[in-house]
Amino acid sequence: MSSSRINTPFSKREPAPEGSGNRPAILFFGDPHGDFEPVLKAVKRLRPEAIVLLGDLQAQRPLHIELASIRGATAIWFIHGNHDSDTDEDFDHLFHSELGDRNLDGQVQVIAGYRVAGLGGIFRDKIWNPALPLHQAAFDSAQRMAASARRGRAGTEVDLRTTWRGGILRKHHSSIFPDVYRRMCALRADILVTHEAPSAHAHGFLVIDELAVHLGAQLVVHGHHHESIDYRKAGLIGPDSPFLVHGVDKGGFLAWPARTPA
Ligand SMILES: [Fe+2]
Repeated sequence: MSSSRINTPFSKREPAPEGSGNRPAILFFGDPHGDFEPVLKAVKRLRPEAIVLLGDLQAQRPLHIELASIRGATAIWFIHGNHDSDTDEDFDHLFHSELGDRNLDGQVQVIAGYRVAGLGGIFRDKIWNPALPLHQAAFDSAQRMAASARRGRAGTEVDLRTTWRGGILRKHHSSIFPDVYRRMCALRADILVTHEAPSAHAHGFLVIDELAVHLGAQLVVHGHHHESIDYRKAGLIGPDSPFLVHGVDKGGFLAWPARTPA
């Protein structure tokens, strides 16, 4: 991937003109929170090759039904956010929809020619306070937490207060576990999408920066905070930053440059 393309994103204030052939490669959408109208409208207008939803989808119906009208028009990907485990419906409409396998969390996929890595969910101290080293996390993996919960307080029975559907609590399906983070650090990617923000945000985390550096990512795009921010333009990162950072607001999107027609 050439760095020249990756250093020239255009914002939602400069959409690709209709009919110009300047079709965006990827549209990154901020947290829908149940409202997919901005996604449907933007995809129909700009015809991106792919879209990535940045978490907190909270689909009111299964996601493949919410996005049925654009499913054949663009490649659909997402990461989950903290609110995607708020209720059984939030969870099932996303993870158990026909698009449930389009979750980028913990993996890298080639999307519209870019290697895109995803880290969904948020940091919760009950699992891993990222100010502490990985090995000091309370639980290294969801599997270990589930095994601990299954043992129960008495060591003999399942503790229903600490389990959900026989595994970890629903809430922690949107928690970041160290094993996922560690595995991602060994991968390579051009773009990192996260629900949490990197350290330049007032509520961001240094470990997101460190993950981007491990990946060799030149762009980090995050949701969660409902703010559209170009961190470089805002002076939040300097020209020496190894990667660009964009936050994307609820109902907004970041359009990644269209390919130059061959
Ligand atoms: Fe969130």
